[in-house]
Amino acid sequence: MSISRPFSSAIQTNRVLGLTDNIVRTTLIVGNWKMNKTASEAATFICTVVPKLPAPPTIEIVVAPPFIALESVRTALGASTSVQLGAQNLFWESHGAYTGEVSAPMLKELGCRYVIIGHSERRTLFGEQDEEVRKKIRSALTHHLKPILCIGESLSQREQGQTDEVLRRQLTGGLTGLSDKDMAAVAVAYEPVWAIGTGKAATSEQAVAAHRTIRAFLADTWSADLAEATRILYGGSVTPHNVSGLLQSDQIDGALIGGACLEVESFATICCLAESIGACG
Ligand code: PGA
Repeated sequence: MSISRPFSSAIQTNRVLGLTDNIVRTTLIVGNWKMNKTASEAATFICTVVPKLPAPPTIEIVVAPPFIALESVRTALGASTSVQLGAQNLFWESHGAYTGEVSAPMLKELGCRYVIIGHSERRTLFGEQDEEVRKKIRSALTHHLKPILCIGESLSQREQGQTDEVLRRQLTGGLTGLSDKDMAAVAVAYEPVWAIGTGKAATSEQAVAAHRTIRAFLADTWSADLAEATRILYGGSVTPHNVSGLLQSDQIDGALIGGACLEVESFATICCLAESIGACG
């Protein structure tokens, strides 16, 4: 199996941006645990799953437990782990009178490297708007956390032919004003709302079409090289059964996984399949 990822131009971009070559469109698998597992359950899960993961991986593997489990997951992973820690959200101020919120410096100190921002559950259940998403991304970047911006259309928007327009609007809303250097740390996750938690993943064709729209927007707004260097993940009912088909496209640079990341066997299988495809890329 061979995947032609446009490494050379991306590497060139990275050199211009002063980044290391080996982060360029490395396959990224992120487990979004949502509101699941207590701190002790999280530690047990990590101790069981880690021996089943590719070691050392050529892909990046990130787990994003609830805030309260970050510390126990970090301890369970240990200092020499290749599994990275992510958060599911943050608040854009770094400290102050914001009851119930958690800031980027707090996450950074707990060992987080990534943060998921603008997940559709945050947008629909908690009323998060593009303006807030933008502030959260800026705060993440200021504190050297890598944001994963989630975007995606609802079923009715898709049925009305508005998918591309919605994606461009959410990209504009989340990323406006970011420099090339900022953008080098950003990943985008295309997560059609109708595919999240429904068991109805997008087809590879649907995902690739959306990813092309996203990449074209990045090229128009920043540059073709930056678009080639930016990782675009797919999320929405990814399982061990469909992950290979999705990742075989050179447009799909990884996956954001909800339900299937909560079980040891399914998360480990997804990571191993992604590793075998990534290693051929
Ligand atoms: P799912 O969730 O894999 O359970 O569909 C994905 C997500 O919400 O990130």
